[in-house]
Amino acid sequence: MPGIPQEILDEILSRVDIVEVISSFIPLKRAGRNFKALCPFHHEKTASFMVNPAKQIYHCFGCGVGGNAFNFLMRYERIEFPEAVEQLAKKAGVVIPKYNLDRQAESLNSFLYKINELAVIYYQGLLNSSEGRIAKEYLIKRGIRSETIESFKLGFAADKWDGLLNYLRSKEINLSLLEKSGLIIPKQGGGYYDRFRQRIIFPVYDLKNRIIAFGGRILPSREKEMEVAKYINSPETPIYVKGKNLFGLNFTKDNIAKFNAAVIVEGYMDFLTAYQEGIPNVIASQGTALTTEQLRLLKRYSQNVVMVFDADSAGQTATLRSLDAFLEEDMEVRVADLPSGFDPDTFIRKYGIKEFRKRIEGAKNLFDYKLDLLRSRLDQNRVEHKAKIANEMLATISKIKNAVLKLEYVRCLAEVLNLKEEALLIELKKIKPYVSVLQEKCLLEDKLSDIDPTEKLLLKLMLEEAELIEGLRGHLEPADFQNEHIARIVSVIFDLASQGRSIKPNKLMAYFSDEKISSFIGELLVPDDTLRGVESRQEIIHDCIRRLKNKRLRLKREELQEEIEIAQRTKDTERLEKLIQDFHQLTRGGI
Ligand code: GTP
Ligand code: MN
Repeated sequence: MPGIPQEILDEILSRVDIVEVISSFIPLKRAGRNFKALCPFHHEKTASFMVNPAKQIYHCFGCGVGGNAFNFLMRYERIEFPEAVEQLAKKAGVVIPKYNLDRQAESLNSFLYKINELAVIYYQGLLNSSEGRIAKEYLIKRGIRSETIESFKLGFAADKWDGLLNYLRSKEINLSLLEKSGLIIPKQGGGYYDRFRQRIIFPVYDLKNRIIAFGGRILPSREKEMEVAKYINSPETPIYVKGKNLFGLNFTKDNIAKFNAAVIVEGYMDFLTAYQEGIPNVIASQGTALTTEQLRLLKRYSQNVVMVFDADSAGQTATLRSLDAFLEEDMEVRVADLPSGFDPDTFIRKYGIKEFRKRIEGAKNLFDYKLDLLRSRLDQNRVEHKAKIANEMLATISKIKNAVLKLEYVRCLAEVLNLKEEALLIELKKIKPYVSVLQEKCLLEDKLSDIDPTEKLLLKLMLEEAELIEGLRGHLEPADFQNEHIARIVSVIFDLASQGRSIKPNKLMAYFSDEKISSFIGELLVPDDTLRGVESRQEIIHDCIRRLKNKRLRLKREELQEEIEIAQRTKDTERLEKLIQDFHQLTRGGI
């Protein structure tokens, strides 16, 4: 974990009791050596949530979640890792020391927050002054109420090159720090000028309600000027990474969780109007396709989203295609569209919030939406068009994670287009971008049940009997494990072993921010029969090692063969020679 030294995490974990931590949130019942409860992370009638005091971990057999005390807090309280650590440290009476480097970074960050706080006060003051009158009137005319302006801390930057610069100078803010905030820009011949001038200012917040950046909208009088952007935003800074933040989420995350749905609009103004008029679970994409990181952030609160497009932008297949990313994250995405020429803001103003809600309720799932759109554009009686529709739809279908659902959509598509399902399935196979056999295996083996039993068994042995690790370390390396998660876990185990550190499962979990890995570990530790009646551990272990080595060799060979074929096809002789050499070496000497 960046920031907090592992020893401290270990210390905290050895001082808190997971049973105590969890039972302060939900009632636990004793069940033999373990404790049981109704799982707080999914709906159930019989208890399948187990807490294991010996191993200091929890696991739910119903929904598969699991982890240590940190993971529990993160998931239950929907907080980030550092916060969970802080809370437990307090409980355990462990002081988290601050190291120099961190302290420097931390103090730079807190300076930047501070500067943004000061800047927002400055911009707010201007919006309420005579200089900002036009801007304020414009907002009010567009239906944004004073309370909304207040609560989102909207502001105004005047038509000056050094307004904010002088204000912050008077507060004795160091200019090179100020430059790091992105609010001022260095001039060629020396000196600085304000980034935001003559614009309405929208503060951008993080999940802790801190201001991390600003957006600035041009005044309507200048909107027609071709060479000025309608909106400009702060550049990235140490506290603002664009693809990691979702505009408005700090205000609406609790409602998104409560309604188990998020409504995504594009613009700042769309967000403000929708929120103000009574859509409490709205966020804004700020006009760009959402990144995987943004989706994962959102997914913490809900898996369900409704995208509201205006008809024109949704018409672009590129925009639609960006929605496939939701499917890859296993999220459910629906699309609502608005009449041509409207965006959520103008639609709500003209037709009212009730009509807007109707549009949201009537949103079609991505599959239907895209299919309808394609069919309205293309003539499915023409063979080429039909093929185009099929291909576009299969591109989306290929992103669906759930295999049953995927097949169901293929069936639907076949029916609608009057095609053979088998033909679509063949095409579906072709769609995947080229992935080698090896990668594909890793992708598929995402579920524990799909992982090679040998890999599982070895890891289980290491987790249960730490004494075995030392011996295994001499014979195996992490890369011998094909499953990337297991390989990562093994590499941490080996590292710890080489430092002579404890490898208790709950502590091990603290090395991974990925919840999936904690769940993996937890699940592996669930008692089962794999080792019952086994006489000689050594024999089993030798057998396992041999199998892993053979498998690695075989996969490597297949991968090389595949690459050789490609090199032959593309007549890349230089590469071909090198590959053939590798191949011979592999078959002769092993890895
Ligand atoms: P209004 O025109 O005031 O109603 O704003 P809007 O939010 O409806 O704007 P629009 O639909 O044009 O754009 C949607 C969002 O995309 C905006 O809120 C901005 O976040 C972003 N955006 C729009 N234009 C620009 C631009 O020129 N530069 C940048 N960086 N972002 C823009
Ligand atoms: Mn608009």
